[in-house]
Amino acid sequence: MRVLGIETSCDETGVAVYDSEGGLLANILYSQVELHAEYGGVVPELASRDHIRKTLPLIRQALDEAGTSAGQVDGVAYTAGPGLVGALMVGATVSRSLAYAWSVPAVGVHHMEGHLLAPMLEHDPPQFPFIALLVSGGHTQLVHVAGIGRYRLLGESLDDAAGEAFDKTAKMLGLPYPGGPQIAKLALEGNAGRYDFPRPMTRKPGLDFSFSGLKTYTRNTIIDASQGGVPLDAATRADIAAAFEEAVVDTLVLKCRRALKQTGLKQLLIAGGVSANTRLRQSLGQMLRKLDGQVYYARPELCTDNGAMIAYAGCQRLQAGQHEGLAIDVRARWPLSELSAVE
Ligand code: KG4
Ligand code: ZN
Repeated sequence: MRVLGIETSCDETGVAVYDSEGGLLANILYSQVELHAEYGGVVPELASRDHIRKTLPLIRQALDEAGTSAGQVDGVAYTAGPGLVGALMVGATVSRSLAYAWSVPAVGVHHMEGHLLAPMLEHDPPQFPFIALLVSGGHTQLVHVAGIGRYRLLGESLDDAAGEAFDKTAKMLGLPYPGGPQIAKLALEGNAGRYDFPRPMTRKPGLDFSFSGLKTYTRNTIIDASQGGVPLDAATRADIAAAFEEAVVDTLVLKCRRALKQTGLKQLLIAGGVSANTRLRQSLGQMLRKLDGQVYYARPELCTDNGAMIAYAGCQRLQAGQHEGLAIDVRARWPLSELSAVE
């Protein structure tokens, strides 16, 4: 089955063609980062308008690259939520209309299920059941995954998501959005040992996260280090970035180990933008080696938002006979636990 996948939930237009036999045939991404840069965050209305401009040309380009004619598409998958409603509506409307015109089924995909399944596009994917750590700009969740659509939430962030904490810290350090890769780069030159950042909620039992206190601690550290309005020197900025990154990574690693111990599982999958972080991947790799287990993740471009993960997740659901009616529906909020199982 050959599926066209369309992602428009936030500030990235992603279009891909996935074939259940031939694998990923095309994967194109257009990022709106520059469009939103001067506002310091994503402006929903501008995001929707830009998706309108980009989606159709990208679909043509993706089909072209995949050597696929409209008649060879067996189904269309699109992100139906969670995300910005206006932005989601663009992908949903285009997808639903194309599917109708081509007389093929369309399926709305949960954005976080897309992330969760992205590592399945790599060689040697994990076998069910496993634990998934979903770490993106909007979500930080630990999930027990018994199969596709069989998700049990074990813990989540009570406030900021991990990616959001990276983005806000980057902003405080005068770095552009998205902050995660910027912090990671700066942290390479820093000495994390110079500061002692907190590891939030690690002493309490349980699998929930909280990153807002860490953000405040970072802000206070920056204020203390720039007494009298003196700008931070390069070494101090790098040390703060390194200490912050280490605190987030340590916290995530500790909670993952706890989830694995509680469930007796030895496979951990990480997905979402923050799973592209090298220090996180290395630390989890070390922890899992000690447990005699394994960590799984996707190549960096499949960790952040993309159309490939939507095409893949949609393909699994379409192959199981699931598809939408003619109504076009999207959801700003959508708990993963509400998804139906794919048998
Ligand atoms: O999954 P994603 O592309 O979009 C959402 O669904 O939110 O995640 C974006 C988030 C941003 O907060 C970005 O700063 C973070 O992922 N991110 C990273 C890295 N690359 C992206 N965080 C830490 N290290 C990275 N290398
Ligand atoms: Zn995402």
